[in-house]
Amino acid sequence: MSLSLPSAAFFRRLLLLWLSTSIPTAVSSPPWSPSETADSFVLYPPELSELMEREFNQLYKSPVIHIFNTLPEPSSLRLWPLIKALTVRNHQQNFVLWSHPVYYLIPGSNVGCVENSTADSWCQDHCTHGGRYCYDPEAALENNNATLSPQIKGKDVLLEILRRLCFDQFYEASDYEFFDYLERFDRADCWASGSDQSSLASCSMEVLNDLPKANYLLLDYCVGDPESDDMQHELLEGQLQDFQSYNLSLTDLPVLTFGDIVYDGEEYTVDAIFEFYCNFFRTDDSALENFDMVPLACDICEPCADVQTCLWTLECDGVPFNGTEFAVTYPGITSVSKRTIDTDD
Ligand SMILES: *[C@@H]1O[C@H](CO)[C@@H](O)[C@H](O)[C@H]1NC(C)=O
Ligand SMILES: *[C@@H]1O[C@H](CO)[C@@H](O)[C@H](O)[C@H]1NC(C)=O
Ligand SMILES: *[C@@H]1O[C@H](CO)[C@@H](O)[C@H](O)[C@H]1NC(C)=O
Ligand SMILES: *[C@@H]1O[C@H](CO)[C@@H](O)[C@H](O)[C@H]1NC(C)=O
Repeated sequence: MSLSLPSAAFFRRLLLLWLSTSIPTAVSSPPWSPSETADSFVLYPPELSELMEREFNQLYKSPVIHIFNTLPEPSSLRLWPLIKALTVRNHQQNFVLWSHPVYYLIPGSNVGCVENSTADSWCQDHCTHGGRYCYDPEAALENNNATLSPQIKGKDVLLEILRRLCFDQFYEASDYEFFDYLERFDRADCWASGSDQSSLASCSMEVLNDLPKANYLLLDYCVGDPESDDMQHELLEGQLQDFQSYNLSLTDLPVLTFGDIVYDGEEYTVDAIFEFYCNFFRTDDSALENFDMVPLACDICEPCADVQTCLWTLECDGVPFNGTEFAVTYPGITSVSKRTIDTDD
């Protein structure tokens, strides 16, 4: 066939482009407000306002965090609450922390499903896009010790992965919308809800339905039709490439990257990851020279034995936060005076 018409995917991209012009981005959205979710983050007190006023262009000076994991994420290794806490704290400083999920999936060509997507029942159950992308629930669950209703097939998980990637693409995981989705999804216990094949999808859609900003049309078009569409899906291709570029396999997960640096701590605990995160901003690496400010949360919460509580409440091991005292002793005071000089001229 020499005549090549634009594909359905082409039109979908065109429509997405058009729709996405009306979508709020993390940069233009208002600062995160604790009242919008069940969690409540104690705001930085007004005494710190000097330290919190940032130049608008600082918004772009941020490391990008990638969270490589399988779905469902094992509850003992849920990294999102911590990433959310860091994000919220940065938002309160008018500083965007970009974070994106990368989800494990199997290239269908590795398991013979591209050639055999309809003939083989395993491929039928666990792959999408004509056998291009597969997910093996057994291997994933064995590796991450999570629970998943037995009715949920690999295909259903792939669709959930796609919904999240689409959501992330339009709202950015650095915005609280994505965290809101993840929290509500957990609260609805969607992974356990599968009494039939469609229930994971319907549970997810119900969760989405409760989110004020979610745009169905957009998500629907982004997800596309994995059953009849045997085209490549840009977002799933991206996931395969990300895994390949870090040479990661299932047993390596979870993996966190900050910029291009892979978190190398032995333990995925709040304390260890937080320390790594804070040191990231203090490094002399010239590639990171844009990050001239260590986040306030680091200076406030690093000395505490209970970092997690501090991130949410600013209370350090039972001692309430005193903004007046902190502002006087703030170790980053030189950055602040530098900023004052800049804005005064
Ligand atoms: C395709 O599936 C059939 C039926 O399960 C199987 O016998 C055959 O070996 C498969 N072919 C490939 C290339 O995996
Ligand atoms: C896996 O789950 C079982 C049952 O919930 C638990 O006893 C075990 O400690 C878990 N293992 C790991 C490595 O988390
Ligand atoms: C990728 O990792 C595997 C082990 O997981 C290793 O055998 C292989 O050499 C690595 N490849 C590259 C290019 O680093
Ligand atoms: C906070 O610290 C300042 C200076 O040390 C002190 O005067 C003030 O009473 C403290 N506020 C509270 C609520 O403890």
